[in-house]
Amino acid sequence: MIILGSTSEVAQAFVEKALQEGEKFEKVYLFTSNKETTERFARHIDVKFLQQSEIIELDLTKEIDYNIFEHINSTLLFCAIGYLGEGTEEGLYDNRNTQQIIEINYSKLVPVINYFAHKFENRRSGTIIGLSSVAGDRGRQSNFIYGSAKAAFTAYLSGLRNYLFDKKVHVMTIKPGFMATKMTEGLPLNPKLTASPKQAADCIYKAFKKQKNTTYVLPIWGVIMMIIRNIPEFIFKKLKL
Ligand SMILES: NC(=O)c1ccc[n+]([C@@H]2O[C@H](COP(=O)([O-])OP(=O)(O)OC[C@H]3O[C@@H](n4cnc5c(N)ncnc54)[C@H](OP(=O)(O)O)[C@@H]3O)[C@@H](O)[C@H]2O)c1
Repeated sequence: MIILGSTSEVAQAFVEKALQEGEKFEKVYLFTSNKETTERFARHIDVKFLQQSEIIELDLTKEIDYNIFEHINSTLLFCAIGYLGEGTEEGLYDNRNTQQIIEINYSKLVPVINYFAHKFENRRSGTIIGLSSVAGDRGRQSNFIYGSAKAAFTAYLSGLRNYLFDKKVHVMTIKPGFMATKMTEGLPLNPKLTASPKQAADCIYKAFKKQKNTTYVLPIWGVIMMIIRNIPEFIFKKLKL
């Protein structure tokens, strides 16, 4: 299994869930920009599940050396990489913030997924799970740079699913609403609309077993976003969302 964004608590909960359910992986490849924290998780799965793992450094703000990925073979890729950055009030006119949000959530991430998609395509098997966001369903004034990068990522996953369908590779789009993780630490999230990492991982694992195409992490978000998507633009532009 390949994990992109290994310090994500959702990614870690997904690995635990899959191992608990008895999924077998020759190795878990933990891609991370934060080696030290990932080493703790690697030790944890080694002790608890006797699962071999390998840590691979990946920082999307830096040059990527694809040669170090060459030996990696897998049938499952789980991508939890994401970067919220500053919202509109603080960050809209900060070009570095804008660039980082677009690079980490989309433009630097897509070539990495493509690299492994190509391997899956050649082997004619595998599943790619990408964590996008409800923020990509419609641009809202509070965080539309992040939302637009996630919208692009959602469109990419949709196209990749379509392209790889007859090559026997399945692509899943996960659209979390709020999740209580380090990304949202300190934000005033409505608990009824917020999933814990374990809840999210359980939901994603269930969707994986059912080979779903697109899944909202809490079903209520599917309803909320259907309403938001259908508000006429002449009303929507006046709302403070
Ligand atoms: N939390 C929410 O409410 C929420 C809502 C909607 C969507 N999402 C999406 O769900 C996914 C998981 O998010 P999370 O809540 O678990 O947040 P998180 O803990 O911040 O996880 C995101 C991961 O992205 C990786 N990352 C960040 N910058 C990177 C960089 N420059 N290069 C490479 N990797 C980088 C980090 O992994 P490493 O430290 O291992 O590199 C980080 O753990 C993300 O795609 C996020 O956008 C989250």
